[in-house]
Amino acid sequence: MSAAGIVIVGGGQAGFQVAASLREAGYTDPVLLVGDEPGLPYQRPPLSKAYLAGKTDAEGLNLRSGSFLAEHRIALRPDTRAARIDREARRLILADGESLAYDHLVLATGARNRALPVPGADLANVRQLRGLADADHLKEALAAAERVVVVGAGFIGLEFAAVAAARGLSVTVVEAASRAMARAVSAETSAFFARAHEGWGVRFVFGAGVEAVVGESGRATGIRLAGGRILPADLVLVGIGVVPNAELAAEAGLAVADGIRVDAFLATDDPAISALGDCARFPSPFAKGLTADGTVRIESVQNAIDQGRCLAGRLAGRPAAYGAVPWFWSDQGRHKLQIAGLAGPEDASILRGSGDAFSVFRFRDGALRAVESVNRAGDHMIARRLLAAGTPLQPEQAADPAFDLKALATARA
Ligand code: FAD
Ligand code: NAI
Repeated sequence: MSAAGIVIVGGGQAGFQVAASLREAGYTDPVLLVGDEPGLPYQRPPLSKAYLAGKTDAEGLNLRSGSFLAEHRIALRPDTRAARIDREARRLILADGESLAYDHLVLATGARNRALPVPGADLANVRQLRGLADADHLKEALAAAERVVVVGAGFIGLEFAAVAAARGLSVTVVEAASRAMARAVSAETSAFFARAHEGWGVRFVFGAGVEAVVGESGRATGIRLAGGRILPADLVLVGIGVVPNAELAAEAGLAVADGIRVDAFLATDDPAISALGDCARFPSPFAKGLTADGTVRIESVQNAIDQGRCLAGRLAGRPAAYGAVPWFWSDQGRHKLQIAGLAGPEDASILRGSGDAFSVFRFRDGALRAVESVNRAGDHMIARRLLAAGTPLQPEQAADPAFDLKALATARA
């Protein structure tokens, strides 16, 4: 009997990486990518940056060409939604009723944007940004807009605000928390980016609750804040975080808690099913002291790629626990933010550098946990090395501009 091979649900960054890395690792049985978006697997980061700004086209987003997939015998079923898993029979049931056999099933279903839970959020010019189709709608809407309100000062909100402001539009960002990107960065980095955006003409309303989107004839004309203040808008972009796509797993009886639960090898509690990327919650040495149980769910390209490689290695017979240093980036206007490691709001901050080029070293329980670098790419690369090697660094050393961080990182490498 011929092997059913590996079926991967989700043709995004993580799903594609597993498929490509399986072939690199010498796996020879069938590999099938089932994804509910049209077209080839593509990268999302430019959607809120170069693509939105019209600096790259849709083809430039593709992770690889169709001929790459063919050459590597990676079968792709786009526009195809997986509806159910029959674990007993080891079959994936598609939305149209067709069922596919698998030897191993990989869940790489990603995450979807959280909806704004207020009246009027469904009006035509209230938009979100997750996929290429969203970005195409937004590009068109930006061309006609004058007043933009962005709900959420996270990564999507700020990257979008920077592009809209560069087009000369009036932009107001409304954020529930007291500062920008609070989920991911220190107060120092938040303050720097808020000031930078203000310099580009963006206005912020922090600590704000959105009560409703107000409108006329099916279109939003503004948003109403708690307390009654109305912010006029002809385009509203909602970027208030994501929800992991874990329903397939939950309905199949797999453990789910803000993401599909996997072990350090990215295996679920069914040995024939693994999960990775935005949809997966895994134990991480970098989450020590950060979350109650030491597990995290990470929403980033690095995580999707490194987990893809790690999982492909196991499925090809070379198991290894996942332990890559998490890192992220965000481009906002002319500023580049890079983050290595994971920090929480309570972690101590040590500043190195000043003005438009600085890094914030984050310490928890006396140990270096993360480094946020603004326009200091060198610090970011050093931070990744220090965190990967677990090289001890004292807060006083991080703060001392004369202390040679590079020498420390290379000495221990
Ligand atoms: P996804 O890329 O979301 O892929 C999941 C795929 O599975 C999707 O195509 C989805 O439609 C499909 N799917 C879900 N359920 C089913 C089903 N039942 N059947 C079939 N298919 C299904 N990260 C960074 O590190 N740096 C950045 O600068 C950055 N910028 C970003 C900008 C934007 C606008 C967005 C939206 C994200 C950005 N990210 C960035 C985050 C990064 O893109 C994600 O972390 C990454 O795409 C996660 O990969 P994934 O494969 O886990 O999920
Ligand atoms: P996010 O979690 O980064 O930010 C959401 C923000 O919305 C938070 O600041 C939160 O306090 C705020 N918020 C939540 N509810 C609100 C409400 N009702 N009213 C006002 N504010 C509210 O999520 P974001 O920006 O939506 O990004 C979505 C996904 O895309 C994430 O996975 C993110 O990592 C990814 N992404 C990553 C980028 C990067 O790494 N450079 C760039 C763009 C997106």
